Amino acid sequence: MTAKVIDGKAFAANVRAQVAAHVTKLKDEKGIQPGLAVVLVGEDPASQVYVRNKHASTVEVGMASFEHRLPATTSEAELLALIDQLNADPKVHGILVQLPLPAHLNSELVINRIEPAKDVDGFHISNVGLLGTGQKSMVPCTPLGCLMMLRDHHGSLSGLNAVVVGRSNIVGKPMAQLLLGDSCTVTIAHSRTKDLAEVCKRADILVAAVGRPEMITGEMVRPGATVIDVGINRIERDGKAKLVGDVHYESAAKVAGAITPVPGGVGPMTIACLLANTLTACCRANGLEEPKGLTA
Ligand code: GUN
Repeated sequence: MTAKVIDGKAFAANVRAQVAAHVTKLKDEKGIQPGLAVVLVGEDPASQVYVRNKHASTVEVGMASFEHRLPATTSEAELLALIDQLNADPKVHGILVQLPLPAHLNSELVINRIEPAKDVDGFHISNVGLLGTGQKSMVPCTPLGCLMMLRDHHGSLSGLNAVVVGRSNIVGKPMAQLLLGDSCTVTIAHSRTKDLAEVCKRADILVAAVGRPEMITGEMVRPGATVIDVGINRIERDGKAKLVGDVHYESAAKVAGAITPVPGGVGPMTIACLLANTLTACCRANGLEEPKGLTA
């Protein structure tokens, strides 16, 4: 079998188009423009690229983008004061503080200062608790993107065996909660799991988010399974820089029923879902119906 390739780039473009159409409608019919504030502290080069891309995508779908770039020497009190100001600003519906923060700043304290309803990353402890108890929350963008692609491919996920490899707060744990919410039988595995191959082989849905290049090989994949590769690992092969996932693509694609490539799979969905979350937050803030198909 050769797997169907799930085209995350095309899927993300479709999500962005849906968001843009909804934004236009909000502006025309209600005079409301969703706004996203992104806060970057310091000059981490990778973070600068992410923030630039987020700004461009936000503007492209017709939302207001508020960028706050602060020096690496910013104190915790200064950063918290900015978050308080954004929490109180009615033009700002979503707030994202780019991580990692410089070492002298307490990330948990900072993230938990964001008004939960504006926490478009879904990292605030209230949103973590709401998701864990099956209540309406803001959902982390990468797992939300994975869920959208899985629902699109399978229709209903009810009763399927899902294995999530990776237990991070940003991807693994919320992914498992979302799959449970869609009535999957969920196993969370990780780098210390005994006989990982045997565990993975039970999966109808296998989500790899462990952060180890090409750790999941074809022998670990059940024939016909859907494989979602969240990994983005920069490696050097044959003297050349290469981007690979947590899945060994060539071997897995021979066995899987469907698979996301790296690049062009899960990656583009993250920003698309950030925009979807900002739209959702804006609709909720204004007591309007949430966009269909763009939430968990
Ligand atoms: N840094 C890398 N990925 C992310 C993300 O999804 N959200 C935030 N806030 N920072 C990040």
